[in-house]
Amino acid sequence: MQHTTDMGQLIISDLENIKKAALSDSDAVDSAAALEEWRVKYLGRKGSVPVLLRQVKEVPAADRAAVGAAANLLRQELTAEYYLVKGRQAQLVANKPQPSPHPRPLPEKGEGNHSAAGLLDAKLPANSGHLHPLTQTIRSLQAIMTGIGYSLVEGPLLEDTEHDFDNLNIGVEHPARAESDTFYVNGSIYPDNRRVMRTSTSSVQVRAVVELGLTPPFKIFSPGRVFRHENVDARHNHTFYQMEALSVGSNVTVADFKGVIETLFSEFFGTVVEARLRPHYFPFTEPSFEPDIRCIFCRDGCGMCKHTGWIEIGGAGMIHPQVLRNMNIDPAMYQGFAFGFGVERMAMLKHGIDDVRLFLGNDLRFLRQF
Ligand code: PHE
Repeated sequence: MQHTTDMGQLIISDLENIKKAALSDSDAVDSAAALEEWRVKYLGRKGSVPVLLRQVKEVPAADRAAVGAAANLLRQELTAEYYLVKGRQAQLVANKPQPSPHPRPLPEKGEGNHSAAGLLDAKLPANSGHLHPLTQTIRSLQAIMTGIGYSLVEGPLLEDTEHDFDNLNIGVEHPARAESDTFYVNGSIYPDNRRVMRTSTSSVQVRAVVELGLTPPFKIFSPGRVFRHENVDARHNHTFYQMEALSVGSNVTVADFKGVIETLFSEFFGTVVEARLRPHYFPFTEPSFEPDIRCIFCRDGCGMCKHTGWIEIGGAGMIHPQVLRNMNIDPAMYQGFAFGFGVERMAMLKHGIDDVRLFLGNDLRFLRQF
């Protein structure tokens, strides 16, 4: 018995030493390469924390739970530290003046190599193009999703009502089907099957799984354009982007979902993001939730979170058994979660943009800021 306590105690004091060393080392991390070295040293597969975590199973039963909890806590703390440092670095890079690709002075009048009169003037420096802020946002979300094992799938923007509604359990009476909410594309090309401009990326779910013949376990995501018959204002547009994600397997749980969104948004915003789930209703998930993330701007209420401390980010839930059947998946054997969120909203939160119409406005004064 004495041995048990000794071993448990030894590990706990190791944990404390690792924590001290890791937190003091992280102060000196001043580049992406140094951060990666730090991560490998402490959190990598052969890093100090995972090595200790593996030793926990050798701790005799009496102490195992306590030692395991302490080791897990340290892993969480160091993961949080990793994102904090990463966020700080992203901030530094963003604030650093970028060297101009054109060291020559810009023309005083006119745009790029066009003169004030709008004529092409080969003597003036050309404008170099860059990626649209939404493309940048989608690419960074995409990099994170592939990093955690999700594969990219895509679907058509012009959908049939079967994939946009029927397969998702959206009944004929559901308001989303109304012409006031959805753009229908009628005409002789599609006489039998009504076509719609897809109203959400959820339309990709059944299509991708069936067409690609996916069998569980699988993890897929799908960013893309969607369309709704909205009254356009600073928060709503008729054309916008969503990202959908789906994970199906024999023991995929709500806890996995929460972990995925916390990871996704922590990486995306460069700071540790906590999530919570509020009960909600969608025809294609059961139970359904609206996930919120803790406000990334304040501690106790600000304009961005309407003074609630939480920011709504989209919709989610455990995939409805009927939707699984529509994917040719047996709901008695498999389960999974689905979530979808607006891409513009993420870009707006990250960059402090207050009007969604700017994304499709093509105003260079806006676009050049990214
Ligand atoms: N399709 C829903 C929407 O557009 C979001 C959602 C996706 C909800 C997946 C649950 C699961 O609002």
